[in-house]
Amino acid sequence: MVSEKEAFVAAAVVVFALISQAEGIIGGREVVPHSRPYMASIQIPGETMKHECGGFVIADQWVMTAVHCMPTGPNGRKVVLGVHSLSEPEDTKQTFDISELHNHPDFNPSNYDNDIALIKLDRPFNSSEAVKTVEYLRAGGTNPDKGAEVETAGWGSIDNLGFRPDKLKEVVIGVVSSLRCKRSDYFGRKFTVNMICAQKVCNDPCDQPYNVEDSCDGDSGGPLLYNGIAVGITSNGGKKCGQIKKPGIYTVISHYTEWIDNTMGQQTAESDEST
Ligand SMILES: *[C@@H]1O[C@H](CO)[C@@H](O)[C@H](O)[C@H]1NC(C)=O
Repeated sequence: MVSEKEAFVAAAVVVFALISQAEGIIGGREVVPHSRPYMASIQIPGETMKHECGGFVIADQWVMTAVHCMPTGPNGRKVVLGVHSLSEPEDTKQTFDISELHNHPDFNPSNYDNDIALIKLDRPFNSSEAVKTVEYLRAGGTNPDKGAEVETAGWGSIDNLGFRPDKLKEVVIGVVSSLRCKRSDYFGRKFTVNMICAQKVCNDPCDQPYNVEDSCDGDSGGPLLYNGIAVGITSNGGKKCGQIKKPGIYTVISHYTEWIDNTMGQQTAESDEST
């Protein structure tokens, strides 16, 4: 058992480390370079390319992300694979135009239900140690239960002021029960069956001042991984990050197997059905 005083000191140390280092997803750590070779950075052109959202490679020309990343279309955005540092020139980087964006037609902007999108790259990527696909969970697969350890990664904000890290970060979090996330002091009815919520593991009752490990702004579209398989997509933009009663919300990928197959199959299928 950890005494209240020890817990308080530990929390204070973490908070201090967070403030002084100013690094992170909120909390978390920098990844070993290219150890998550499926990670994609979706960038918007301007004076320089700016990272806006994450994504992950699921097939030679396809990246999965969230609808709320590009609700009105790609508008000139690019997808960069093989990235560790956003700013440094890395010879592992491969940059693509978006040839097709498929936002899920049932995306609900009021609660982010069905927040899943597929990007078709303008050409297949070159497979390397730094660029590889990740498996994603299909219908019938096992989603993580309450308390299961899951991981997420991103180049998103490290605090609620919008500071962004340059290098990819990862964090280990725990799945929170759907019953809890449906509670009115959490997300209430906005939380649907198509969502998983997860946060830094915290005993009931959660009495820490606030939760310091979470995905945040700019991590959107990235994967939630369970045993190395992508089971979720970072969703829920707009919330303040790292709040105890607002865990991160992730789209349940296994609910969309048919839509994914249809979307990725429609280019090669001989079917003349239009969608
Ligand atoms: C893959 O490698 C070939 C040969 O080096 C190169 O021409 C092509 O542009 C590369 N493709 C991508 C996506 O970078």
